[in-house]
Amino acid sequence: MQIEKLKKEFAKRYGNSNKDISIFFAPGRVNLIGEHTDYNGGYVFPCSLSFGTYLLISTTNDNHIKFSSLNFDFTTSISSDKEIEKINNKWVNYPLGIMLEFQKRGILLSGMELLYYGDIPNGAGLSSSASIELVTSIALNELFACDLDIIEMIKLSQKAENNFVGMNCGIMDQFVVGMGKKDHALFLNCNTLEYKLIPFKLQGYNLIITNSNKQRKLTDSKYNERRAECEKAVEYLNKVQAVNNLSEIDILKFSKIQNAIPDEIIRKRAKHVISENQRVIDAVKALKQKNIITFGKLMNLSHDSLRDDYEVTGCELDILVEEARKIEGVLGSRMTGAGFGGCTVSLVKEEVNEIFRKKVGEGYNKKTGLKAEFYSAKIGDGARKIF
Ligand code: GLA
Repeated sequence: MQIEKLKKEFAKRYGNSNKDISIFFAPGRVNLIGEHTDYNGGYVFPCSLSFGTYLLISTTNDNHIKFSSLNFDFTTSISSDKEIEKINNKWVNYPLGIMLEFQKRGILLSGMELLYYGDIPNGAGLSSSASIELVTSIALNELFACDLDIIEMIKLSQKAENNFVGMNCGIMDQFVVGMGKKDHALFLNCNTLEYKLIPFKLQGYNLIITNSNKQRKLTDSKYNERRAECEKAVEYLNKVQAVNNLSEIDILKFSKIQNAIPDEIIRKRAKHVISENQRVIDAVKALKQKNIITFGKLMNLSHDSLRDDYEVTGCELDILVEEARKIEGVLGSRMTGAGFGGCTVSLVKEEVNEIFRKKVGEGYNKKTGLKAEFYSAKIGDGARKIF
């Protein structure tokens, strides 16, 4: 949607006086490889997308904070003088969680009018949540002259999602939404937060995101359960080796000490995390050497590990990946994000783009009755002020 249209919507909802409106944007993200490694102190390799969340915002002289969105019907108004509280399961909990984090830092909020618009499909695993969190953080930071740096806003946004929304996510989504760069993927060490932006423009190949349209709700899903299983694995491994997290162990070491984990399921979870970490390192190396065949193979291995060892794919994502891999010119295909529904990401030769959409769409529909959607992933910049 164009900015002019958004401004008209703002005026429609909040009155057309000559208001001083600021506009901010934060992207969605797609993760190329490195899944369920972030909360284990491991590596990830995501990029920020050209679609995301827009926020039009204006401060007022009263104490009413008013929320509205073009994506959801629910609107509300709260008082800026009181400590922020959660409102059922509503979308506003994402910005509310951010506001509470600002309040906790002693920042006095005033009244304001906010209008959100997102063009990221909700619940598709492309991080509409981190996008709404970061767009709110950078807007409040500027309007209330808080002088927080972007890393602090990234951490604060993750905290809001963990503690206020109740989803125990890692740092990957907020980090890449805040720090992503056009035509680059971000190689991040989630333990130290050291990162490198690696150019990601592939001659003759495209990244295609396929939405399974199987909705999943992260807080309801098994995400928190997987986290707990990884913590259990660390607990077992500590009986034979002092470790803080699974990413401190490499594959060779793991093969020697894996029997310290008596439970087979927990052992498989650990195996996924440890092998996935190595795949991220190998994938970044392959990309630097312009070896995209190897990059694609690693994407495939990542999905297989998420399916067999981590068990977070589900039949819809598995079918999308199977159908994609049947097509000549598809170098790799895998689920992206938390799993349990959502999207896949595939590395596809330009000439077969159309065939890909047709064949994967048909095959998927035949087997599941669901209609897949396709987006060509354009890698855009991280969170920013538009004006
Ligand atoms: C979700 C979480 C991330 C990460 C991924 C899985 O997107 O928000 O922190 O754990 O799942 O890699």
